[in-house]
Amino acid sequence: MKKIFLSIALLCAASWVAPTVATAQNLVPIPLKMASAQGQPLVWQNVGQINCPDELANEKAHLLRVLADRAGITTLNDNGTAQITLSIDTSLNDDEAYTLSIDENGVNIAGKTAAGVFYGIMTMEQLMIDDNASARCIETNPITIEDAPRTHVRELMVDPCRIFVPYERLKEIVPEMARYKLNSIHLHLVDDQAWRIEIKKYPQLIEKSTSRVGMDDMLIPISGYYTQEQMKDFVKYCAQYHVMVVPEIEMPGHEVAAIHAFPELTCGGKQVPIRTTCGVSNELLCPGNEFTYEFLGNVFRELADVFPCKYVHLGGDEAGNPALDCWTTCEKDKKLKKELGITTTDRSENWKLQKYMFDRVIDTLRTKYDKVPMFWYETDFKKIQEGCVTFAWRNGLTEPAVEAAIKNNAKIMMCPGDYCYFDYPMAKGDMPEINWGMPVRTFETVYQFDPGWGQGEDFEKNNLFGVAGTLWSESINSPERIFYQAYPRSLILAEAGWSAQKNRSWKGFLKRSRPLMLDLQHRGITFSMPTEYIDLQ
Ligand code: ACM
Repeated sequence: MKKIFLSIALLCAASWVAPTVATAQNLVPIPLKMASAQGQPLVWQNVGQINCPDELANEKAHLLRVLADRAGITTLNDNGTAQITLSIDTSLNDDEAYTLSIDENGVNIAGKTAAGVFYGIMTMEQLMIDDNASARCIETNPITIEDAPRTHVRELMVDPCRIFVPYERLKEIVPEMARYKLNSIHLHLVDDQAWRIEIKKYPQLIEKSTSRVGMDDMLIPISGYYTQEQMKDFVKYCAQYHVMVVPEIEMPGHEVAAIHAFPELTCGGKQVPIRTTCGVSNELLCPGNEFTYEFLGNVFRELADVFPCKYVHLGGDEAGNPALDCWTTCEKDKKLKKELGITTTDRSENWKLQKYMFDRVIDTLRTKYDKVPMFWYETDFKKIQEGCVTFAWRNGLTEPAVEAAIKNNAKIMMCPGDYCYFDYPMAKGDMPEINWGMPVRTFETVYQFDPGWGQGEDFEKNNLFGVAGTLWSESINSPERIFYQAYPRSLILAEAGWSAQKNRSWKGFLKRSRPLMLDLQHRGITFSMPTEYIDLQ
C-alpha cells in the first residue's frame, strides 16, 4: 500500500476558463433530503436583487462573500431578473434547520433561526464548487434541499498549551470549520505545560507559566497567552460564524502550570517546574486546601465575564498515575476524608474526594454563573452529576462511558479516541517528532464513526449531545499543522455529527468530498491525504 503523502495538487490541473455546472455531488455533510428540480439552471450573473430582513445582516454579509468568491460577483446586475431571498421560517422543526431551493429565478434560503440561514448559505456555496475548484461558478442546476442536524454540538477541540496558537492564527480555524456546519470550538486553556488565559487577579500565571523551551524532542521556544480582551473579541468573531467558544480549565490533574505559579495548590505545597514532556503528572490540585477553591472560584468568576457560552469544561482526565495518588498521603486530604466520613482504603476514597471537589465547583458554576459543566469521562469516577455533559474519549472505553451516560440519564459528547483524535496521524510515521506511540486513524477508519454507537433512538434522543474532534498539540508543532491534522478528517466529523446515519456511505463520501478537498487546496488550506484514497475517488 502506498503510504506517501502527496499534495493533492499533483493530481489535478487547475484551469481558470472552464465554466462549471455544479451538482449536488459535493455536499458534506450530506443533507437530510435533497432532490434535483426540473427547469433551467440559475445563471449567477442574472442575480439582480437580494431580499433579506435586517436581522439577517450578518448572513447577508456571508452571502455577498460567497457570491464574490464563487461567482466573481461583486456588484449585482442592474438588469438581472433573478433574486436571492433569505428569510426566517419559524415553522421549521429545529433551530439549525433550513430549506434551500435554487431555480432559474433565483435562490430561496429559509432558516428557523439565523444559524439555519447561515447553514443554507454554506450549502449553497458547496453547490457552487465543482471538481475544477479554480473555475468561477457560472450556473447551478435547480435543486431543493430540506436539512436539519442529527446532533446539536459539533466541535473541534484546540490545545494551545503544548504548542501556542497565536490569536490571529486561532481565528483562522473558525471560518473553515463553519463551512461544514461545525459549531463549537473548545479551547483547552491550561495544562501541565502552560497556562494560556489572562486572569487579572493572578498575574503570576502569565509571568511564570506561559513560556518554556521544548515539547518532548522538539526543542523550540514556546510562549504566549490570550488576553481577556482577545478572548472577548474571539467570542464575537465566532458568533458571526455561529460557532460557540467553550473554555476548559482542567482539574484536578493537568494543572502543573498553575501549581508552578502557586505551589500551595498542590499537596505539600511543592515547588514544581513547568512540564516540557507529554504524559501524566502526579502533581494535582489539593482538594483539602481551601485555597484551591478560592483560586478556581476567582478563575471561573473572571472567565464567566469573558465566555458567555453556557458550557464550561472542567477536565477531570488523567489525574496522576496511579490516579489521584498524591491525595493518599496528604495530611490535609486525610483530614478532609475524615470530616466527610470517607473511610475506604481501596483507592475509591480518592475518587470520592474527586466527586466532592467536582460537586463544589459544579455548584459554584451553576448557582453563580448558570453554567452547564462538562468533563472527560473516567470509568472510576462513575457518577455523572445531574445536568452535566460527559465526554467519551478513551480509546476502547466508549462502551462504559455510554453505559454511564444512560444509567445517569446524562448527556454524552462522543469523541472516542478510536475515531475522533485528529492529533493521531493518518499514516504511520507521519509526525514531526519521535511519536510517543499514537495510533494511526485513517480516513476510512474515521468514516466508520457513528455517534449513535448502535444504541438506538432513546440514546440519541436522551443522551447523545454531539461530536468532537480533538487536536491535542503534543505533536502539532505549528498552527499549520492544526489544519493538516484536522483536514480532511473534520469533514467526516461534521458529517457524523450533522447527517442522518441512513444517508451516509463511505463510497458516496469519497465522491462528495473530492471537490471539497480540491477546494481546500485551491484556498491554500493545509491538509493530509494518503495517495490510496485519491485513487479510490
Ligand atoms: C485526554 O485525551 N486526556 C482527554
